[in-house]
Order: sequence, then structure tokens, then C-alpha cells
Amino acid sequence: MPIQEDKNSSSLSSYVVTKLLNALMNHFLSLLLYFLILSVGVMVGIIVHSSLQALYSPSSLTIQNVSQLFIVTSPPPHPSPSPPPPPPPCPSPPSPPPPPCLSPSPPPPCPSLSSKENGLEMFPRPSKNITHNMEDKELLWRASMVPKIRSYPFPRTPKVAFMFLSKGPLPLAPLWEMFFRGHEDLFNIYVHINPSYKEYIPQGSVFHGRRIPSKTVYWGNANMVEAELRLLANALLDINNERFVLLSESCIPLFNFTIIYSYLINSTQTHVESYDLPVGRHRYNSRMYPHIHLDQFRKGSQWFELDRAMALEVVSDTFYWPIFNAYCFVPDEHYIQTLLNVIRPSLGSRNSNRTLTYADWSKNGAHPRSFGESEVNVEFLEELRSKSCGDSELCFLFGRKFLPTALDNLLIFSSTVMHF
Ligand SMILES: *[C@@H]1O[C@H](CO)[C@@H](O)[C@H](O)[C@H]1NC(C)=O
Ligand SMILES: *[C@@H]1O[C@H](CO)[C@@H](O)[C@H](O)[C@H]1NC(C)=O
Ligand SMILES: *[C@@H]1O[C@H](CO)[C@@H](O)[C@H](O)[C@H]1NC(C)=O
Ligand SMILES: *[C@@H]1O[C@H](CO)[C@@H](O)[C@H](O)[C@H]1NC(C)=O
Ligand SMILES: *[C@@H]1O[C@H](CO)[C@@H](O)[C@H](O)[C@H]1NC(C)=O
Repeated sequence: MPIQEDKNSSSLSSYVVTKLLNALMNHFLSLLLYFLILSVGVMVGIIVHSSLQALYSPSSLTIQNVSQLFIVTSPPPHPSPSPPPPPPPCPSPPSPPPPPCLSPSPPPPCPSLSSKENGLEMFPRPSKNITHNMEDKELLWRASMVPKIRSYPFPRTPKVAFMFLSKGPLPLAPLWEMFFRGHEDLFNIYVHINPSYKEYIPQGSVFHGRRIPSKTVYWGNANMVEAELRLLANALLDINNERFVLLSESCIPLFNFTIIYSYLINSTQTHVESYDLPVGRHRYNSRMYPHIHLDQFRKGSQWFELDRAMALEVVSDTFYWPIFNAYCFVPDEHYIQTLLNVIRPSLGSRNSNRTLTYADWSKNGAHPRSFGESEVNVEFLEELRSKSCGDSELCFLFGRKFLPTALDNLLIFSSTVMHF
């Protein structure tokens, strides 16, 4: 029965075809599903990748754009339900509480310096505390800085820096206290004392807290000049200091503060004794040649008075000082005295070539005469005050060397003779 057979075979083949088609269809659908899932995945990947790239590029998408793109249904992030974390406690002055933030932002940085310390205030009114931890090299470098703009953008009262270079205590301090009293806005004191000396200066004294970092000084040694440089540099740190007087523990003022201040502030000259005489020339060392010639070499008293311009030249000199340091005997009587003449002729010609500090060299010894209790009387003090030199109205503003025994008499005559 071929027909039956045919029927049977045809139904069998149609069954097989249907089965095949079904299987193919199922396969195709699952392939399609896979393809769709894959496409969605790739798209998501591309979008996330470009969003992340945009995060690192300066423009376009931010993290909010990304979140808006995907988390459309999530609520907007603000207003934030919890306040931002409080800023860490700042030292005084207390900062006001941060305003309620819409989005968390970093707390404002703590002001580490008040505007007073930070701003221009520190120049007109530098710190009362003059201690520092600078090495000499650092100090001189710092002190050599000069503002290029000449006029001051704040009212500046020029001050006189009284620089005391002393081995130990200041036995005549009570006289100086009387001299300075009432003029606190017009001067600054700097004291260089041998570091081994532990002095006690009572609070309320004009010398309290005015001791600068020091090193041991030997008379006639180069470290004497280094101590002078240290005093000058410390005084230069205060922009108000205009005149710089070097004094010793045996110096006294011969006039009152008003007279001395006016004389110095009004002066157009510096006062460094500087002369070229055989007595100076025999200290010349030919190894200083060719940088310093014999006819440039000068001698003079150590006790100088400089203006700010000259003080700046002295602390800034890195060329001549090493030569004097290496080859000059008693450089405190030659270095600044010669520097004035070699460093800049304009500064040398402004120097009066005389000292403001009287000393009696009539004995022709290595040291000037000292004055004690028996020498100090009205006539003697008047004589020193009335000395004349050249065309100058006043010759000496200070005198040395006064012994501690002279103090009582000096305190008695200060008001009647010196008017302070
Ligand atoms: C992303 O959002 C910022 C503001 O949040 C907008 O300036 C910038 O145009 C947005 N970028 C895109 C691509 O939408
Ligand atoms: C000055 O400052 C130093 C630290 O730099 C400190 O040790 C010293 O006590 C201060 N002196 C005064 C008088 O405040
Ligand atoms: C400088 O001298 C003039 C005139 O001699 C005087 O008016 C002025 O007060 C003096 N300055 C000081 C600071 O003493
Ligand atoms: C001081 O001496 C220098 C040269 O050593 C000279 O140029 C200057 O004019 C002198 N000053 C006075 C006031 O004589
Ligand atoms: C300062 O001394 C002079 C005389 O040398 C005197 O005329 C003047 O009154 C004194 N000044 C003060 C403030 O005592």
C-alpha cells in the first residue's frame, strides 16, 4: 500500500519540517533576545564610559548629569536631610556657624593668622618680641631687604635704634631709664650681651626683652664686628628705625632725649670717625691689596652712628668683610671706617668723619681715660656738652668711659645739667 505509505511518509515529513521550523524559530528568538540584551549592554557601557570621561574633562558632564541620566526616578539630592559635618574647631577668633548648605561643601579653612599679623600692620608695628632663631647668615640676608618703593604707604615716625654692645650688665641703666622715659614711641633698644651672662631685667624697664641672640665677643677680635653687624641687622628688621647708634655699657647721654632725637633725625650726615693718618696706616696689611689700597684704608673710633641707607650697605657687604676678617688687626676700628670710602663714594661723602661719642685719649694709651665718682661734677659735664667741632652746633651727644661709681653723681646732675 504505497498510498498509505505515501500518506504516512508525507505526514511524517511534514511533522519533521514543523519540528525543525519550531526549533529554528526558538533558536532565532533566543538569539534575538541575546542580541537585544547585548546591544543594551553595549549602549549602557558607552554612555557610562563617556560620562566618566566627561567627569575628568573640564567641561560638559558632571556627576549630577550622570546621575540625572540614570537615576531619573530618585529624588533630587537636596535639600539634604542632615546638616553637613561641623568644621573642625578653629582657634580664635571664632568663625560664624556655616550657613545651611544646599549641597555638602567643605568647611571654610581655619584662618591661621589674624588679619593684623597677616597684613601690612606687621611693618609699621613689628612684634614687640625681638627674639628669633635665625643664624647670623640668615639674619643678615633678611635684614638686607629693601622696599623698592621709596615712599611709605602708612604714617611712619622715624625711630632711633640705641644699640648697646656690652660684655655683661649695664651698670648705668638707671641713668638711661631716666633719659628714655616718656619717649617710648621714638626709639628702640637692642642689647648684645655675652651669652654666658644670665641677667635679670625687671618688667617695666626699657631694657626688658631687648636682648638679641648673641655670641661671645673678645675685645679687638673680628667677632666684635660680627656683634656690631648682629645689632645692626636686628635693628634693621624694624622698618621704623632710621638712625642707628652704637653704645657701650660705659656710655652716657650728654643731652636729653629731645635734643639727641632731633639732632639725629634732622641730620643729613652719618657719624663714623674715619681718618687717614700714619697711626692708622701702620695697621694696613698688604694682603688686602688689590681690593683695598693703602690710601683707601681708614681708622676711627668703633662707636658709630649710621642712617638706614648706610646700615643697609654694611649688613649687605659680603665682599670686603671677608678680607677684613682675614687680614685686619682690630677690624672694629677699620672695617666700617674704610667701607664708607670704598663701597660707594656718595655714602662716604655724606659721612661727617667724626664720632658723636666723646672719649679722652689724652693719656695716649690703648684705652681712653675712665671717669669715676671723683671726676663727675657739674663743670666736667658742662665742658663735655659745650665742646665744639668745626661748624657743628653740637659736637658730642654721648660720652665714655663712665665707671659704675659715677652713677650716683650722674643721677644727681642729670636733671640740672643734662635736663632730663
Ligand atoms: C551638566 O550639568 C551642568 C550643570 O550642573 C551643565 O552646566 C552642563 O551643561 C551639563 N552637561 C550636559 C552634557 O548636560
Ligand atoms: C618671645 O618668643 C619666644 C619664642 O620665639 C619665647 O620663648 C619668649 O618667651 C618670648 N618672650 C616674650 C617676652 O614674650
Ligand atoms: C628738624 O629741624 C627743623 C628746623 O630746624 C624743625 O622744625 C624740626 O622739628 C626738626 N625735626 C625734628 C624731628 O626734630
Ligand atoms: C669725610 O672723608 C671723605 C673721604 O675720606 C670725604 O669724601 C668727605 O667729604 C669727608 N666728609 C667731610 C664732612 O669732610
Ligand atoms: C632738653 O634740654 C634742653 C637744654 O639742653 C632744654 O631746653 C629742654 O627744655 C629739654 N627738654 C625737655 C623735654 O626737658
